[in-house]
Amino acid sequence: MVNKITVVGAGNVGATTAQRVAEKQLARTVVMVDVAEGIPQGKGLDQWESAPIEGFDTRVIGTNGYEETAGSDIVIITAGIARKPGMSRDDLLNTNAGIVKQVSEQIKKTSPNAILIIVSNPLDVMCYVAKEVTGFPRERVLGMAGVLDTARYRSFIAEALDVSVRDIQAMVLGGHGDTMVPLISYTTVSGIPVTQLMDRSTLDAIVDRTRNGGAEIVKHLKTGSAYYAPSAGAVQMAEAIVRDEKRILPCAAWLNGEYGEKGIFLGVPCKVGRRGLEQVLEVELTAEERAALAKSAEAVREPMKAVKL
Ligand code: APR
Repeated sequence: MVNKITVVGAGNVGATTAQRVAEKQLARTVVMVDVAEGIPQGKGLDQWESAPIEGFDTRVIGTNGYEETAGSDIVIITAGIARKPGMSRDDLLNTNAGIVKQVSEQIKKTSPNAILIIVSNPLDVMCYVAKEVTGFPRERVLGMAGVLDTARYRSFIAEALDVSVRDIQAMVLGGHGDTMVPLISYTTVSGIPVTQLMDRSTLDAIVDRTRNGGAEIVKHLKTGSAYYAPSAGAVQMAEAIVRDEKRILPCAAWLNGEYGEKGIFLGVPCKVGRRGLEQVLEVELTAEERAALAKSAEAVREPMKAVKL
């Protein structure tokens, strides 16, 4: 366990993330920060009062300031507005860029050695904002998107084949949007290529559903966006760091030429351990997958240019 994990934003994603961190005892203290008065305090206290029942010793604290967050080992940023029906993630750009900028300035001052996990959308551009504002090296700024997109993809495949989700191995790369790239060539069921177990049209429908997985939830909820699976994704990344697991996870990482891309955050296979991003794995892609990844990078570059820092 580490000493302190801060979760910025005590909304749906943030509060669920803090709860998962506490229940897994990843830190001695989890601090929730939010601008809304009383919300982080109330949710934090409520979660802490569940500790005797759930049996965790992680202290949960809620606050409106950054003093309590000082010296955090990991900071998970979920602050910002969520999507409503008909909105794309890019529609959140200007509002959330301002919020992530303000949060990053505070974190830079109070937790200069933290590893950041960004969850706010549009994800890849918010990672860029956080990296630019904090000046942290790429090892310490990671975005949570691929873990979520891959979880959606794996859950749909498991459902279609009526097998355990644990036996589906897969990777979804690229930007966190409609251009994401599920890698069919690397999708297996306990090592068996998925194409041997499923016809192509079923698989194509699953790929399509994965790309629109976030919108599907927004359509149901109407007043907000997904948070159970996103918080699970962020906490899986935090756990890999805390326990130095060296997991191979699809994360948004700052690319220095890998996959032919430079100066951009994009979802790629990463080794995640105590130092944060420990390695970007470059794997072979089919010509089709490579083209799709390049297209996805373009879809991230556009809003990146538009953002004001
Ligand atoms: N500092 C801290 N918290 C902030 C700030 C800020 N500057 N601005 C807004 N917030 C808080 C809000 O007060 C709110 O409690 O962020 C929280 C967002 O919570 P929700 O509206 O419930 O949104 P949520 O579903 O948690 O999504 C948050 O994560 O998955 C992404 O697309 C999603 O960008 C969105 C973010």
